[in-house]
Formats: sequence, C-alpha cells, structure tokens
Amino acid sequence: MPTQRFNLASCADRPIGLFDSGLGGLTVLSELKRRLPAEKFIYLGDTARTPYGSKGHDTIVRYSRECARFLLDRKIKALVVACNTSSAHALSELESHCPCPVIGTIEPAVRYALHASKGRRIGVIGTEATIASEVYQRRIAELAPEARIAAAPCPLFVPLVEQGMVDGEIVDKVIELYLAPLRAERIDTLILGCTHYPLLLARIAAFMGKEVAIVECSRAIADEMYRLLEDGGAFAPKGGAAKAEFFVTDALSRFNNLTRLCLGDASVQAERVELS
Ligand code: DGL
Repeated sequence: MPTQRFNLASCADRPIGLFDSGLGGLTVLSELKRRLPAEKFIYLGDTARTPYGSKGHDTIVRYSRECARFLLDRKIKALVVACNTSSAHALSELESHCPCPVIGTIEPAVRYALHASKGRRIGVIGTEATIASEVYQRRIAELAPEARIAAAPCPLFVPLVEQGMVDGEIVDKVIELYLAPLRAERIDTLILGCTHYPLLLARIAAFMGKEVAIVECSRAIADEMYRLLEDGGAFAPKGGAAKAEFFVTDALSRFNNLTRLCLGDASVQAERVELS
C-alpha cells in the first residue's frame, strides 16, 4: 500500500474507520483496539444488506463504496475493509478513490498463512463471492507456486453468526458439511477468509484437529495498521483511551446485544443510519 502519498501525521487525532456487512468486522476491531489502545474507531455494519457474500460483483462494489463514503465523511485517517467479500471485489476501487490509506483482509491473511504452513497444503474458506473471485487462490499461487490449495464456500456460516449461533449441534453439522472435504484433503493450514468465521473458531478448530493451523486476518491487519501509523508518525496523541463509535443500517438492538457478547463490552450503543 503506497503510504507516502498521504500526509498521515497531520491527521493523527482522527479516528480509524472500518466496515463490514454486519458484525464480522468486530473480530478485526477487537484486535485493533488491543494493539492500538489509544486510537479512536468508527465501525459501520451494513446490517440492512447483509450478507454480501451471496451478491454479485457490481452490488458488492456499490455497497462497499457507500460504506467507505459514510466513514470518509466522518474524517477518518485510515480505512479498514473489515470484510473479505468487499476486499475481494472492491479493494482496488476503494484504494483508487479514498483520500486515505486502505487496508484489506486478503494480503495480510495470505502472508500469515504462508508463514504458518509448513507443508504448503492450504485450505481457504469464505463466502460464495469471495471464493468465486479466486482472489485468495491466485495470491497464494503467486507467492507460493508449489502450494496445494483447496477452497470452499461456506454460505451458511454468516447467517448463523448473525443470529448469534456460534456453537451447538446445528453449528457442528454445518461445519462438518463444509469442512469434511478440506479435512479429507489433509490441509495443514486453514484460512478463515471471512471476518465472521473467527466467531466459530472454537468449533472449527475442534473439527479440523490440532495439526491444522487456523489463520484469520485480524492480527495481521492490526500489525499492518500499527506499521502504517508508525511510518506515518500518526499514532493518536498520548493519553487517549481506545474509543469506538458504532453505526448500523438496520437491526439495531440485535447488533447491540451480539456486539456486547462478541466484544464483552456492555457499553456498546450503535446508532442506526441510512447510506447513500
Ligand atoms: N464478514 C464478511 C466477509 O468477511 C461478509 C460476509 C457476508 O456478508 O456475506 O466476507
């Protein structure tokens, strides 16, 4: 990401913006808050239009642009596309139009996976739109041509998570349905190519077994954001405490309840907004 073209130091006290189709991006926000405890964040969940993963390219690009515009209007210093589906389909479009640095999910997750994988047998799961874009498959093949890649869409995972269903018999059955073929391929690393999936991590890890490394993008994104702010001299002024504002496009009280559950933060109060 070309950071030199932005004068980040002059906007150090601005918030970092991030968006997802729903609450999946909160897994990224948690890690960002942990790593960058003095920063302010603005989170947008496009809950009126979730899931993005079953939509076509043009729709995903349009939704992503609208989410980015909402955050840019609030004067952010950097944008995190905390959604793999948007990153797969709209990242280059967002990068070319945003007047601030943009960090997506795919590059950080691929780099972590290549670091974790010893045998170069890599599985990747994501939404239908992410897997069909083949962005993960192509990037892994570019960086590690010797890798064997197995990819699978898991379209029921996002609705389960959005309903707060992260364990139990139904979740285990759906995990088995999608992941049994990858387990049979004897992959050694599994990329969770959707920011909702870390909320199913315990059950996915139990199904895949200890010998499979599970990789998700949030820690890698937090590392990248840290580097970006360090290089740009743009850390929030000292003495601040991590603060986040939340916006959603629908289903306010469900989002508030699930967010408290996921982030363990009882003070979360999202506001409902319209995007244009
Ligand atoms: N959390 C998202 C992702 O990382 C979006 C899932 C969806 O809306 O289908 O892909």
